Amino acid sequence: MTSELLRKARDYERSCAPLIAPQERPAFHMTPAVGWMNDPNGFSVYKGEYHLFYQYNPYATHWDLMHWGHVKTRDFIRWERLPAALAPDMPYDRDGCFSGSAAELPDGRQLLVYTGVCQGRQTQCAAVGDGVDYEKAACNPVIDAAGLPPGGSAQDFRDPKVWLDGGRYRMAVANRQADGSGAVLMYESEDGLRWRYAGMPAASGGRLGRMWECPDFFRLDGKDVLLVNPQEMTPVGLEFHAGNCTACVIGTFGPGDCHLSREAVQAVDYGLDFYAPQTLETPDGRRVMIAWMQNWETVGAQPAGCRYFGEMTLPRELSVRDGRLIQNPVRELERFRGTQVLHRNVRLSGTASLDGVQGRVLDMTVSVRPAPRAARYRSFRIDVAADAERCVSIRYKPETGTVRIDRTRSGFPHDIVSVRDFPVRPSRGEIRLRLILDRHSLELFVNDGEQAATAMFYTDPLADAIRFTAEGEAEMDVEKYDLIAD
Ligand code: FRU
Repeated sequence: MTSELLRKARDYERSCAPLIAPQERPAFHMTPAVGWMNDPNGFSVYKGEYHLFYQYNPYATHWDLMHWGHVKTRDFIRWERLPAALAPDMPYDRDGCFSGSAAELPDGRQLLVYTGVCQGRQTQCAAVGDGVDYEKAACNPVIDAAGLPPGGSAQDFRDPKVWLDGGRYRMAVANRQADGSGAVLMYESEDGLRWRYAGMPAASGGRLGRMWECPDFFRLDGKDVLLVNPQEMTPVGLEFHAGNCTACVIGTFGPGDCHLSREAVQAVDYGLDFYAPQTLETPDGRRVMIAWMQNWETVGAQPAGCRYFGEMTLPRELSVRDGRLIQNPVRELERFRGTQVLHRNVRLSGTASLDGVQGRVLDMTVSVRPAPRAARYRSFRIDVAADAERCVSIRYKPETGTVRIDRTRSGFPHDIVSVRDFPVRPSRGEIRLRLILDRHSLELFVNDGEQAATAMFYTDPLADAIRFTAEGEAEMDVEKYDLIAD
């Protein structure tokens, strides 16, 4: 039965979403119907389609009483809107339906598992439905404080990620431990409703930030991979930045002692706007990740008069290579490419633009190397979304082996974090930069996905120039496609 609160949210989004013109939105990145969006939730395959839910406050462009919004897609590029899926309409979730995930039940219905918040206490709750309408389980909450290990906080116990593992459901949930640091708890269930505690595969131990949020856990290329989002992180070299981060732990999981032994830890995205990623496995065996393309530290910096706020990243295909997480745009994106513009072996010294290379919705790969018979270049820069005054720039310095992403002059009227540096590894003297632009976002993939860096910016939508600058002499290839999503 649809509650009054859910009906109100559905009516509101039905009447307000059409008021937002398509040009106010990105061309192919997912945005909320109206109002505010944060974490991706329930990213999963259901009846041959990819479903995505999201943390949602339809009524304003700031965070407030959380609902779940809902969309689906067949290609990760074109998203179909569905009515809001959950509203905070029960005593155990009346202060919000926080993040969670989805799986298919043996009888073909869709299971949603989320965190219900009531008077500061967080419990795990379930709802079951047909892909559009959901009924909250009569036995909710399905895990409460009684299911916590000793010392686990009932106030910070959230963001369940469920998956089916050999006929049994597993769930990873974030929890705060007695010393204030974060941990991931694991639970098991035969039916998705009755859960038992299985152990604590990983904990921060005071090293990777404090409380952890939104865990995801999967096997990939012979390794076990845990994604977590530490809060109150302090920077570790150029690997992690302060505040809310996303970390990836690669290792081996022992189901016997329910422990993930760590082999490598890294940042997932080295840019400015990326948080709370969630993954799914496609029917053809790819692990695909989507994240909130924002950051809690800068969400106050919104464009004046916006009627929705929040975008998801482009879904990314993951792999593990040489102990590192590799990310690349989903291959489906290539189907939406327009005509190719190609410039090869362009010698560059100073600043230049290239014929046919401009735009705000595009997929462009630039390969840069020292020019033959020239001294090593000192730096190479690409300015995008540029006009005479504004731009977002990506600069590579061979001497330090770092890339800098800089949106300082991109149109934010707020003094927010705008610069990030991160280390990269050129291969045989060449560095490859793949840029995906979609009106107000940049997603950068370095060296075929070894690093990704994401940033939002608000330069005038008509600022579509792209400029290349070399200090010293460099040589580059540029391959560019407009992206046409409709
Ligand atoms: C992460 C988060 C989650 C929580 C949700 C609330 O961004 O803080 O831990 O479930 O947002 O909207």
